[in-house]
Amino acid sequence: MAISGGCGDIGQATARRLAEEGARVVLLDRVSKDVLAADLSNNEQIAYLYCDVTNRDSVAAALTTLVELCGRLDVAIANAGMVANERFLDLEPANLRATMEVNFYGAFNFAQLAARLMVSQPLSDRGIRGKILFTGSWVQDMPFPQGTSYISSKAALKMMAMVMAQELAHQGVRVNTLAPGIVYAGLSKKLHDADPDFRGRVAAAIPLDEMQSAESVADAYAFLCSSDSDYMTGASLLVDGGATLVKRS
Ligand SMILES: NC(=O)c1ccc[n+]([C@@H]2O[C@H](COP(=O)([O-])OP(=O)(O)OC[C@H]3O[C@@H](n4cnc5c(N)ncnc54)[C@H](O)[C@@H]3O)[C@@H](O)[C@H]2O)c1
Repeated sequence: MAISGGCGDIGQATARRLAEEGARVVLLDRVSKDVLAADLSNNEQIAYLYCDVTNRDSVAAALTTLVELCGRLDVAIANAGMVANERFLDLEPANLRATMEVNFYGAFNFAQLAARLMVSQPLSDRGIRGKILFTGSWVQDMPFPQGTSYISSKAALKMMAMVMAQELAHQGVRVNTLAPGIVYAGLSKKLHDADPDFRGRVAAAIPLDEMQSAESVADAYAFLCSSDSDYMTGASLLVDGGATLVKRS
């Protein structure tokens, strides 16, 4: 299986969990593998390949190498992402463009090239050719201040996944989105630690009162990668500590 943005916090937690389940995991990222935790860089089930998802040649080259290494691609998790929070009136067009470039166009590149690969490979013994998963976000269905670029990219991703699921259903490819909440890791951890205003808004937003862990996201991915979810396609699995509910206390 492959995880784009695999060297980030959620990518690493997911790789660790899926390797524990016995999967062979290839991390694709544009940062160097030097950022990997020691237990991952020393794990024989986990490999790293350079990949910039905004560059189709880079994605194609990484997938070719991956097939040489692993023989086939059973699961592709389009997880690479970035965030640029700005108030709508101040939003820099270049930041909107960059966010869509990574979060949406990059996910499209990875998912389309992975899907082309999957439809050409034989059915697995589970009767499917592959699974494509997207890291969405609870905000894909929910406005959040300063989130125009990020939220619009995740809403677009969710709809792309549904269209893909519909078109690929008869070709043995499942397509689903995982929508985490506000994770104390990666993108949100940086914002949380740097911005008191963000901290205040987060505290007010989560009914379960604590930020999500990257391991909680990995648990949900373990389900989506397993045969337990084989009947799911075109769905979005929301695991957000209730953030989508409006907190009323
Ligand atoms: N942290 C959260 O609260 C949260 C919540 C919901 C969803 N998400 C989503 O989870 C995913 C992972 O985010 P994270 O929180 O682990 O952040 P992170 O910054 O730790 O990881 C993001 C990874 O994506 C990689 N990346 C960025 N642009 C890339 C490109 N062009 N090509 C290849 N790799 C690229 C980065 O190098 C990084 O390793 C993102 O899609 C994010 O939107 C995060």
